[in-house]
Amino acid sequence: MKNKIIELLNGAIDILDTAQITDILEEPPKKELGDYAFPCFRLAKEMHKAPQMIASEIAEKIEKPDFVDRIEVQGAYVNFFVNKTQNAEGVIAASIDDSYGSSEEGKGKVICIDYSSPNVAKNFHVGHLRTTVIGNSLYKIYSKLGYKVERINHLGDWGTQFGKLIVAYKKWGSEEEVKEKGIEELMRLYVLFHDEADKDEALFDEARAWFHKMEIGDEEALSIWKWFFDISLEEFKRTYALMGMEFDHFTGESFYRDMTGDVVNELTEKGLLTDSEGAKIVDLSEYDMAPCLILKNDGSSIYATRDIAAVEYRKKTYNFEKCLYVTGQEQKLHFAQVFKVMELLGNEWAKDSLIHIPYGLVSLAGEKLSTRGGNVIYAEDILKEAISKIREIIDEKNPDLSDEEKEEASRIVGVGAVIFNDLYNQRIKDVSFSWSHITSFEGETGPYVQYTYARCSSILRNFDNFKPSTDIDYSVLTDETSTELLKEISRFPAIISEAAERYEPSVIARYAVDLAQAFNRFYTENRIMVDDTKIRDTRCTVTAITRRILKDSLDLLGIGVVEKM
Ligand code: ARG
Repeated sequence: MKNKIIELLNGAIDILDTAQITDILEEPPKKELGDYAFPCFRLAKEMHKAPQMIASEIAEKIEKPDFVDRIEVQGAYVNFFVNKTQNAEGVIAASIDDSYGSSEEGKGKVICIDYSSPNVAKNFHVGHLRTTVIGNSLYKIYSKLGYKVERINHLGDWGTQFGKLIVAYKKWGSEEEVKEKGIEELMRLYVLFHDEADKDEALFDEARAWFHKMEIGDEEALSIWKWFFDISLEEFKRTYALMGMEFDHFTGESFYRDMTGDVVNELTEKGLLTDSEGAKIVDLSEYDMAPCLILKNDGSSIYATRDIAAVEYRKKTYNFEKCLYVTGQEQKLHFAQVFKVMELLGNEWAKDSLIHIPYGLVSLAGEKLSTRGGNVIYAEDILKEAISKIREIIDEKNPDLSDEEKEEASRIVGVGAVIFNDLYNQRIKDVSFSWSHITSFEGETGPYVQYTYARCSSILRNFDNFKPSTDIDYSVLTDETSTELLKEISRFPAIISEAAERYEPSVIARYAVDLAQAFNRFYTENRIMVDDTKIRDTRCTVTAITRRILKDSLDLLGIGVVEKM
C-alpha cells in the first residue's frame, strides 16, 4: 500500500522524486489522521507557497483510486485513508509464501563474522555468551538476505599465557587433575602461577621460554598446549551444542602463527614499522591513536599481529564483502588500530569492509548465579539453570505433556529465554539479568513469544493440515485488531533489513514481541472457531501466517520453537 501511495504522490508532484517522497511520507499514530500522511512543509519552502495551499493542490490533482477510501487535507497534510479490505488482501498476498522476508540482496556476496571466540584454558563466561548470541543472530539475518556467511570462531589459543600455564602445570599440576576437572583446573593453575610469580620473578622468564618453544615448534611444548586446547574446545562445544549453534571455522589465533612473519615483513617493506624500546610498533599518532604493538621486545608476536594476519588470510580465502567482529566495547581501540594498519598497508577496502560490532556488559543486578571453583560463572551453568527453572514452570502449567515433550520444551524455552534477554536490548546497552524476568511467560520475553507461537499451533491443530489460503473473505479483516495485526505482518521484511543495516538483532526481538502482542489482541477480540467456514478460514489464514513469522523471527535470533509448552 505504501508504495502505491508513493506512486500516487509521485504523479502529482513534479519537483520531488520517489526517494524524497518516501522519506517525507509519514504513518500517523492517530487513526483520524489516516494511514499515511504527506506533510507539505518542505515543498512549501522550495515553492515559496503556503503549505496548506500545496496540500490542497496535491489532493485535487490525485484521482482517488479504488484502494483509497478517502483523501483529506488537514492543515499542511494530505491524509490517505486506505481501503481496509484491499489492504488486507495485499498484505496476505505478500506474506502467504513461506519465503516471506527472504531476499536475494546478498546473492554472490560473502560476509565473515568473527564471534564467540572464547579463550582456551579459560571458562566460557557471560560476556562470551553475548558475542555468541549476537554473532549467531547476525549470521541468521544475513543468510536470510541471501549472503553467504562464514562463521569464524577466533579462539584465544595462542600467546604468552600458555607459557605460564605450561610452567604451572609442570611444577604443580597433575595429569589426573586436568583430565578430571578440565578448564577449572587449568584456571586454578593459571592463578597459582601469578601467585607464585609475585614471589619469584624468575618464573616469568621460564614462561617466556616455554612460549618461545611453542613459537619455534618444540614438540613437547606443542603437545601440552594441544592437550589444553582439546580439553577446552570440548567444553566449549558442549555449550554450543546446548544452544544449538555451529561454526564453519574454529580457526583461532594459533592458526595464524606462521603468518605473522609475513605481516612483519610487509610492514617493514612499506616503512610502517618503528622501534620503540626494543619492541616494534606502527605509529598511529597522526590518527590520534595509541601505537599498534606488533612485536614485543623478546620478538614474539601478539594479539594484534595475529589479527592483521587473520584479515589478510580471510580476504584472500573468502573474498569477503564485509568482515564483522563481535566483541565487548573494551576492544574498540584494538580493532581501530588493526583496521587502520590494514588501511595503511594500502588496502582501500579496509575502510568500509572491516567493522567492529561492540556490545555492553551483562549486569547481574544482585542476582545469584551458580559458580564453580574460584567463584567463576560459566555460561553453561546459566543455560542449565534456565532449563531447570523453565522445567518447573512447565511441570506446573502443562502436567499432561509427556516426559520427552517436557524435556524438549524446557531446553528450547530455557535456552531461548537467556538468548532473548540478551538480544532484546540494543546491543551497546548493558543487559540486566533477572531470573524472574527472563523466565516469565508474560511481558517482553522469549517464553512469551514462544508461548504465542504454541498458541497459534494449538488453534490450528483443531483443523487437520490447515493451509493458509487466498480464497478468503478479506472484509473479515477490517476491524481494529485485525488491521493492527496485518500491519505488524507487513513490517517483517523491512524489519529484517533494518536489523541487518544496523547490525542490531534487538530490532527483530522487539518486532517479535510486537507481533505476538498484536496477535494476542486479535485473538481476544475475534472468535476463530465460528460456524461460518469462510470467516474461520480467513482468521486461520492470518493465524498461520503469524505463526510462521513468529517462528522465523525467533529463528533469526537463534531461538527454537515448540508446539506445546
Ligand atoms: N578471544 C578474545 C576475547 O575473549 C576475542 C577475540 C575476538 N576476535 C578477534 N579477531 N580478535 O576477548
